Amino acid sequence: MKYGFIGCGNMGSALAGALSRITTDIAVCDRNPEKAKALAEKYKLQATDLQEVCESCERIFLAIKPQGLDKLADDIYDIIVKNRPVIITMLAGVNTATVGRLFSEELPVIRIMPNTPVGVGEGVVLYCGNAFADEALINDFLNDMQFAGSLIKLDEELIDAGCAVSGCGPAYMYMMADAVAAAGEKCGIERNTAVRLAALTMLGSARMMLESEKSPEQLKTDVCSPGGSTIEGVKVLKNASFKDTVSSAVEAAYRRNRELGGN
Ligand SMILES: NC(=O)c1ccc[n+]([C@@H]2O[C@H](COP(=O)([O-])OP(=O)(O)OC[C@H]3O[C@@H](n4cnc5c(N)ncnc54)[C@H](OP(=O)(O)O)[C@@H]3O)[C@@H](O)[C@H]2O)c1
Repeated sequence: MKYGFIGCGNMGSALAGALSRITTDIAVCDRNPEKAKALAEKYKLQATDLQEVCESCERIFLAIKPQGLDKLADDIYDIIVKNRPVIITMLAGVNTATVGRLFSEELPVIRIMPNTPVGVGEGVVLYCGNAFADEALINDFLNDMQFAGSLIKLDEELIDAGCAVSGCGPAYMYMMADAVAAAGEKCGIERNTAVRLAALTMLGSARMMLESEKSPEQLKTDVCSPGGSTIEGVKVLKNASFKDTVSSAVEAAYRRNRELGGN
C-alpha cells in the first residue's frame, strides 16, 4: 500500500481523512483496533495491525504521542530496517535525526507539523525532510496532501517554534472564541448563535490578515473608532496583559516541544 498510519487518534484520523481525497491506498492501525476500524469505514481505507502496516506500506505516518516512540521503535525496528519505508513523523519535538537514529540513519524521513483543522481542509502543515527525502518524494507527498490545507516548508530548527504557533494554535483560538461567545450569551444571545458569530468573526478576521497589506495591530486599530465601544473592550484586554499572556502560552508550548524532543 502507498500509505500506512500507526495511530488513529485526533491527528492521524484528520490526516488520513485529508489524504483519502487523493488516494485510498491507505492502511491504518491503532493500539485500539476499534479506532482503526471506525476510521477505515469512514474513509474506505483498510484497517489492519501494526505488523501489516510496517510490512506492506511504502510510506508510514507515525501518529502516536512522542512518549510512545521508543517502545514503538523497539517493536518495529527489524521490519522497518528490512523494508525501508519512508517515515512521516508528526511527533511534537521529535526531529528527523532522532527518527534516523532509532531506525536507520539513511531512511528517508519527512517531518510534518499539522494542526487539527486539516480535518476540514483548512489546516496548516509545516514540513521538512532529511537528506534522504529527495525533491521528487517531497513533491509527490505534497500533492497527496493537498486537501489538508496550507503546506508550508520550514527549516527543521524552526519546526518546534512553528508547532507552538500553528500546531497548538487552534486551542488558543478556540479559547478566545469560547470567551467571546460566553460573553455574548451573558448579554442575551443564544449559545449556538453566539459561537457561530465568534467563529465567523475569526474566519473573516483571518481573511483580512491574509488578504490585506495591514498588520494585525493596524487592523485592530481600524476597528477602534475613537469614543466607540471596541476601544473600551481593547482597554480591558490591555489592562489584563492580554498580549503578554498569550505570548507566554505560546512560549510555554515551545519549551514543552523542546522537552519532548529531549532538548
Ligand atoms: N492533536 C494535535 O492537535 C496535534 C498537532 C500537531 C501534532 N500532533 C502530534 O500528533 C501525534 C498524535 O497526536 P494525537 O493528538 O492524534 O494523539 P492521540 O489522539 O492520543 O492519538 C494517538 C493514537 O495512537 C495510539 N497508539 C499509541 N501507541 C500506539 C502503538 N504503538 N501502535 C498503535 N497505536 C498506538 C493511541 O492509543 P492509546 O489511546 O491507547 O494511547 C491513540 O489512539 C502526537 O505525536 C502529537 O505530538 C498533534
